[in-house]
Amino acid sequence: MQISQLIKLLPKAELHLHIEGTLEPELMFELAQRNNIQLPYANIEEVRKSYEFHDLQSFLDVYYLGASVLIKKQDFFDLTYAYLEKANEDGIKHVEIFFDPQTHTQRGVSFEDIITGIVEALNKAKDEFAISSFLIMSFLRHLSEEDAFEVLEQAKPFYNNIKAIGLDSAEIGNPPEKFKNVFKKAIDLGFLTVAHAGEEGPAENIRNSLDLLNVKRIDHGVNCVTDESLLQELIKQKTPLTVCPLSNVKLKVFKHMSEHNIRDLYLKGVCVTINSDDPSYFGGYLADNYIECQKHLNFSFLELVQIAKNSFQASFLTEEEKEIRC
Ligand code: ADE
Ligand code: ZN
Repeated sequence: MQISQLIKLLPKAELHLHIEGTLEPELMFELAQRNNIQLPYANIEEVRKSYEFHDLQSFLDVYYLGASVLIKKQDFFDLTYAYLEKANEDGIKHVEIFFDPQTHTQRGVSFEDIITGIVEALNKAKDEFAISSFLIMSFLRHLSEEDAFEVLEQAKPFYNNIKAIGLDSAEIGNPPEKFKNVFKKAIDLGFLTVAHAGEEGPAENIRNSLDLLNVKRIDHGVNCVTDESLLQELIKQKTPLTVCPLSNVKLKVFKHMSEHNIRDLYLKGVCVTINSDDPSYFGGYLADNYIECQKHLNFSFLELVQIAKNSFQASFLTEEEKEIRC
């Protein structure tokens, strides 16, 4: 059996996945038509051609534009269910999904439609594919902390559907300390926390996410290597990094997959996991990320098995559930 088939068969958890980043051009066009939205692309080929990014911001501009076709509850359901079908084919058994309410509520979309559309698809996938899931509500860090407080308030009727709070969008110029108070409130309300840090930004953002936002995992975190004492602390504390290899290459964090540092981090003893981030935009879903790592970084299959185990260990499942899954 080929290694790519073995990777697909390997039970895996995906911990860093933006639901808006799973919007395939075909569905983007279908929803644009359904909702009477004018896209600046003539056809699907043009959409794909626009997926040439030179940094995070150049991607975010295209990503927010794509998300503008999502209006109704049914759109969020269709988007989420389409991802879960792919997740099932990829051997994903558990997923912790980011959603960015501000990307939609700023355009007048109802918070209730966003979250109920997503949750209904997650429930269907649990019944049909036995994929378990948690939702992570993420604040857009280019907006203010006051806006984030408002999102937390809007989410109140749906707190039972949300496991954790995250922080994403443009890292440079928007450090974690900007969101210290709203994360404290979220923790007081009983939410777990995570944050994107050390993707394009400095290692200092990782340290401050740990110290000031009390995060349980770091999303990306690849820039931790520039601070040896931080690196040692991540290893000692077993703080998981949700690394997204194809994303990092597409956004020019690394020039080529062969230059990615995930295997070095793994060999040093960091609890790394492999994830897909925004698979529709970055050229591959979860299994593709594992396959590319194996191809270009010489991961053995046994090492990938360990990384798949890490993905369950780093998840927000209970210790009992982890025992059963690993
Ligand atoms: N939102 C969606 N994908 C992201 C990424 N890779 N970094 C920051 N914000 C994001
Ligand atoms: Zn991300």
